Amino acid sequence: MSAQTLKAAEELKPKAVQRCILPHCGGVYAISERIYVCPRCGGPLEIDVHLPPANEAPGLRKLWAVRAGSRDARDRSGVWRFRELLPFEDSAPVVTLFEGNTPLYDAPRCAEYAGLIGLRLKHQGCNPTGSFKDTGMTAALTQAVVLGAETVICASTGNTAASLSAYAARAGLQAAILVPYGQISAAKLAQSMDYGATIFELDGNFDDCMRLIQDLGDEPSIYVANSINPFRVEGQKTVAFELMQQCDWGGPDHVVVPGGNMGNSTALGKGFEELLRLGLIDRLPKLSVIQAEGSAPLARLFATLGPKQRPPAQSSPQPSSPEPLSSESWLDDSRLPGTMAPVEHPRTLATAIKIGAPISWRKALRVVLRSHGRIISVSEQEIADAKSMIGRDGIGCEPASATTVAGIRRLVASGYIGPTDTVIAVLTGHVLKDPDYVSNYHRGTLALDTGEGNPRPIHGSFRNAPQRVEATKQSILGVLGRRK
Ligand code: F0G
Repeated sequence: MSAQTLKAAEELKPKAVQRCILPHCGGVYAISERIYVCPRCGGPLEIDVHLPPANEAPGLRKLWAVRAGSRDARDRSGVWRFRELLPFEDSAPVVTLFEGNTPLYDAPRCAEYAGLIGLRLKHQGCNPTGSFKDTGMTAALTQAVVLGAETVICASTGNTAASLSAYAARAGLQAAILVPYGQISAAKLAQSMDYGATIFELDGNFDDCMRLIQDLGDEPSIYVANSINPFRVEGQKTVAFELMQQCDWGGPDHVVVPGGNMGNSTALGKGFEELLRLGLIDRLPKLSVIQAEGSAPLARLFATLGPKQRPPAQSSPQPSSPEPLSSESWLDDSRLPGTMAPVEHPRTLATAIKIGAPISWRKALRVVLRSHGRIISVSEQEIADAKSMIGRDGIGCEPASATTVAGIRRLVASGYIGPTDTVIAVLTGHVLKDPDYVSNYHRGTLALDTGEGNPRPIHGSFRNAPQRVEATKQSILGVLGRRK
């Protein structure tokens, strides 16, 4: 074959395919197919990107670093600057709000609170619509345009909806969002109103909205942008790339994320695994997921897993050379549980993760097990106090994000995380996403509806309520003196 023919063949090779993750199926489909689950067996799909050869990896590091200083729109996006690892052609009509490029903060007060020497917080709430969803939505909306969709739709606890609405507005597509009536933060809903989405408030919870979405996805003009859509996950996986770049491609020992519908954990795990295959990192961070106690179906399932399902402790999960990670290599996917019992009536004040039947539970469980991570739950009190501690570091986040620091504290106490381990918590939403929660915590009026008629109060261990004082210099100095 001549060099020219070879080049032409190379150009014809698709950049990626969609693959069913179920071991007994493994169906493969073109990325141009508008599917969300395997057409053959109904299993979850993931995108298999043909990664560049490992000898090109060092060049990628340099390229990605240089792009940070470029004025090109794709280079300025913290997602598209990693486009070599995304399933899009170079000519793709990128829909971007310059997402990503979020800070990695030191959080000394949180570290002390959790029992660690150091703790860093990757703040995905610093994205354009205030949550981590934007890194996935830029990819999903770009694919919607590629496929010629007219309407993009999602079920949401608020953040996916706000993000979808904004990106659809940028792309000039109709946005439709399904939210559980009365169960999401007013601030998030206000965003979707402003971005011009058609908003459907449904009687029922998030899981009911999600069931309906799966029916609506059959309509040819509609494109589903929940994380069941594997393109969303592709955008969100770039957070793993950016995080490792911020760590100069070395460490951390642990990465901890909140768990709701389980798209975020799936995406981060996939991102880390791709870096390992490329040889850009030499070990996977242990990826742990934290759920809220009243909405913790996967933590419950995880607690029941026996040694058969967990990778053997002795054999290292990290291939010594950058070999492809496959189910056969060190975790047999067929050993994964086939079902997960949902939580019928999920309850938590962290409404973003009030989810009883997470759609991507299986994909998330896979990546957690492969990395030797944990899935646990924390109480409402722990979430509230951890949230206020994050605030004391001058950072702030929405309640769901604070499950991470609460979970890390538990994992340190149990000995799973060592006090000198390097740990990064991913904060998923901005503090202003749920101002009512913050205000109620600090004023001492936060309470969980238990569904039994008597709300359970959450005590603000680190309360900081406003003080009403006379408008005099003396009264102000008096209060300041008392608080020193
Ligand atoms: N944190 C925040 C702030 C969220 O909004 C969500 C999910 C999660 C964590 C959980 O992430 O679902 O990928 O496991 N919010 C979705 C929504 C469900 O509709 O906004 P996940």
